[in-house]
Amino acid sequence: MTTRGLFISVEGIDGAGKSTHVDFIKNYLTQAGRTVVTAREPGGTIVGEKIRDILLNSENLHNISELFLMFASRQELVNQIIIPNISNGICVVTDRFTDASIAYQGAGRNIGVNKVLQVAKLMEPYISTDLTILFDVPIEVAMMRLAKNAIKDRIEKENVSFFERVREAYYKLAHEDSSRVKIISTDKSITETREMIANCLDNLLKRIG
Ligand code: TMP
Repeated sequence: MTTRGLFISVEGIDGAGKSTHVDFIKNYLTQAGRTVVTAREPGGTIVGEKIRDILLNSENLHNISELFLMFASRQELVNQIIIPNISNGICVVTDRFTDASIAYQGAGRNIGVNKVLQVAKLMEPYISTDLTILFDVPIEVAMMRLAKNAIKDRIEKENVSFFERVREAYYKLAHEDSSRVKIISTDKSITETREMIANCLDNLLKRIG
């Protein structure tokens, strides 16, 4: 019998520095004897990457269209990458998943968390991560990092209160679902941050590895 692969996501507001840790997670699990694939959202499939381009580079987009496009990209990733891999015992690490829609569209865009959850339930199949690592930095640090980007995408151009709402929503998720969503502060040294990530992964492997 094949053991199901683990499904892990990383989250955080833009500028939180989450993406740099995806490779560390992959390498750590590989050293623990797992096969790992990584993906990103929106994107990660041919259709998903086209959707990502629309989402990040369009001039005007209705908030509800943005929400549906996030989920359209997600549905492709679930069907093409996540389910086939975890069913074959391969771990999947995604740079963002449904929690991002709850935080960004539900709270950031003020669509409401319940509406986003209703859309999430339409997904086939509906799946949740085994572990979500929420990388967190003070909002000022994130804004300073974003300010250094020569070119900002449509969402990165949002104002501070948008990102404050997103950050609050992520915190709420972490408190309501504390066994799945773990907060790691990235204003520490890279060594300390990696130790905390390793600790989360060890606990997960002990729990369902
Ligand atoms: P990235 O910069 O982490 O690759 O993500 C692209 C942007 O998309 C980022 O600003 C967060 C945003 N996003 C949402 O607003 N909702 C979502 O569901 C996802 C997956 C991303």
